Amino acid sequence: MRLVNVVGARPQFIKLAPVLKAIEQHNHEHPQGLIRETLVHTGQHYDFEMSQVFFDELGLKAPDYHLGVGSGSHGHQTGEMLKEIEQVLLDEKPDWVVVYGDTNTTLAAALAAAKLHVPVAHVEAGLRSFNRRMPEELNRVLADHVSDLLFCPTETAAENLRREGFTNILDDGHLLPLDHGPRTTHNGPVVANVGDVMYDAVLLYGTLAQGKPSILRRLGLKQGEYALATIHRAENTDDRERLRSIFEGLEAVAVEGLRVVVPLHPRTRQALSSQLPEFCSLSRGVELLEPVSYLVMINLERNAKVILTDSGGVQKEAFFFGIPCVTLRKETEWTETIETGWNRLVGCDPGAIRKAACGPAAEKRVRLRPYGDGQAAKRIVSCLGHP
Ligand code: UD1
Ligand code: UDP
Repeated sequence: MRLVNVVGARPQFIKLAPVLKAIEQHNHEHPQGLIRETLVHTGQHYDFEMSQVFFDELGLKAPDYHLGVGSGSHGHQTGEMLKEIEQVLLDEKPDWVVVYGDTNTTLAAALAAAKLHVPVAHVEAGLRSFNRRMPEELNRVLADHVSDLLFCPTETAAENLRREGFTNILDDGHLLPLDHGPRTTHNGPVVANVGDVMYDAVLLYGTLAQGKPSILRRLGLKQGEYALATIHRAENTDDRERLRSIFEGLEAVAVEGLRVVVPLHPRTRQALSSQLPEFCSLSRGVELLEPVSYLVMINLERNAKVILTDSGGVQKEAFFFGIPCVTLRKETEWTETIETGWNRLVGCDPGAIRKAACGPAAEKRVRLRPYGDGQAAKRIVSCLGHP
């Protein structure tokens, strides 16, 4: 069986890692049913600390194809990828194309494959913010609706797909048993809740992260005595007033005596430098860093007092590590983090940000394994390996 993985943006390298490991394991255990994997990197992210650092640190194989597409407007970037991926698929003739998450890379790969009648498997299917102004929401909806195998990370995601008319939902959207055996897609698209590959990744790399020389020492941070923040969503970076409001909120947290460290996405750094250069200065109590590697990020997350973010992946990692999260958006796809009291949606109001980060903690509720059991990649590969 021939499979093409397509990735291109930071969170996709992290989602890919457990899947590549599961393919290796599958090939070791099933020499008769080998999966021949080809890796495509679209080049959506290209700075060393947005791309290569993840390949080095997570021990990922070098991409078989690097398309070097780079940045651009949505149409331009997606179009360039579509063109290039189509050629790869014509050359490789895979049985499956696997796409991850909700970026322009996801949409381009899903569309290129579907148009060539190559079956598409979407990892992280069914997530919805119900906000069509988010580029990611369009990417998710469109990728899901051209996919043949939809791997949901949660029951909520499977339920979203049911509401959109998908009927073939394995085990009624409950976590798929590990020994589920072969599944067929002959009767139209199949939806399966396999759990979240990002939870797999945290379990796989958590110990390795602990063994790394601690970033905390380097930055002089003490466990439980700082706030960690990331901001990169278009809705926040592309609106000067929203961005100002968020940084005022972070400053208000710093004024309360909590150091605030911000590994800054290049998009946000550019927006600050051009629109709000006054926030680039250290003296305002918010410490801006270059983007950090995954293992460093995990270390920063699990030792923070609180995490403030508009990232999808970071909200979940806060939940995995049991760190309270303040989400700088009005909605989230990861509703389980809210329902259990670990996450609060505050938008961009400075007072609300300060209150949520520094005020009393919300009451927490337990919910058993909303993101699976750390074996999502194994289920994915098992489904793909025995279609
Ligand atoms: C993309 C995804 C978003 C995901 C995020 C993960 C889309 C529409 N958005 O957003 O869903 O959460 O990745 O981080 O696909 N840039 C650099 N160096 C890089 C990469 C980007 O300087 O290596 C700058 C460029 O100016 C670029 C801007 O960041 O124009 C935005 O990059 P882009 O990949 O278009 O979107 P992200 O904001 O990274
Ligand atoms: N991340 C990282 N370094 C950083 C910021 C984030 O390694 O400086 C990791 C983070 O731990 C998570 C993933 O990148 O695993 C989330 O990616 P991002 O926030 O860019 O995108 P999103 O999840 O919102 O799509």
